[in-house]
Amino acid sequence: MSSTDAAPAVSVEGLFHFVGPKSHRVPVLEDVHFQLAAGEFLCIMGPSGSGTSTLLHLIAGLDRPEAGTVSLGGEELGTRTGPERTLARRDGIGYVFQFFNLLPNLTVMENVGLPLAIRGESGPAQRARCQALLDRFGVGDRTGAFPHELSGGEMQRVSIARALAGDQPLLICDEPTGNLSQQAGQEIMKVLREVCDQDGRSVLLVTHNPRDATFADRVVFLVDGHLADSLELSGPDIPIESVHQALEDLGI
Ligand SMILES: Nc1ncnc2c1ncn2[C@@H]1O[C@H](COP(=O)(O)OP(=O)(O)O)[C@@H](O)[C@H]1O
Ligand SMILES: [Mg+2]
Repeated sequence: MSSTDAAPAVSVEGLFHFVGPKSHRVPVLEDVHFQLAAGEFLCIMGPSGSGTSTLLHLIAGLDRPEAGTVSLGGEELGTRTGPERTLARRDGIGYVFQFFNLLPNLTVMENVGLPLAIRGESGPAQRARCQALLDRFGVGDRTGAFPHELSGGEMQRVSIARALAGDQPLLICDEPTGNLSQQAGQEIMKVLREVCDQDGRSVLLVTHNPRDATFADRVVFLVDGHLADSLELSGPDIPIESVHQALEDLGI
């Protein structure tokens, strides 16, 4: 099956979500719709508080939308039970966070192997797989270290290795460079681009950094709970000036 025939990695239709107490429900997402093609690298930009993390949570099935649908690889999440959604997330999505979310009392190798251990898979083959990922991302010599012994860039490389260890087809990254220096952040973006190009994984990135956005195939903008669908930038090699211009046009 060619990539053009494959079901979209993510398809979001008519998504609405509200937060706050019942008496003061505030809309965060209003009629959001987009598709992430299999093997595509899509970047979502929006001002702080615009609902980007909420959107990623809904896509990962960590929360349920008030209305609308989320499909992963052509399978709609909303029709599934809670345990089925958990399995769909475990097997379908690797998640990378701004603050890494590594477990402090586990070594690098234990952290990366955790998703496999949770599946009941922990043996020499799994260990070799984790080591290969760590080697590939330039932290193969840190397997016995604990997270607090690593730099921010190293922690994020480890967390990307963890997110890929279970061979999930979709990588969701919520501001993965937000806590890194410019240089470490650029290195992380190169890793994400490579994961998309070489492994054919689909990548969904949220960032505030225009330079990060230039690594994506496509950039869309989330403003006041709406995807500003008139503003969409497509690569390859999205110029940083066009990202700045789009943000300025949107008043972000
Ligand atoms: N559980 C919650 N209860 C109340 N407000 C929330 C909750 N989650 C998010 N919000 C609010 O919804 C808005 C969007 O949050 P979020 O998705 O985290 O934004 P972003 O990640 O784009 O900065 C923010 O105004 C935030 O304060
Ligand atoms: Mg956020």
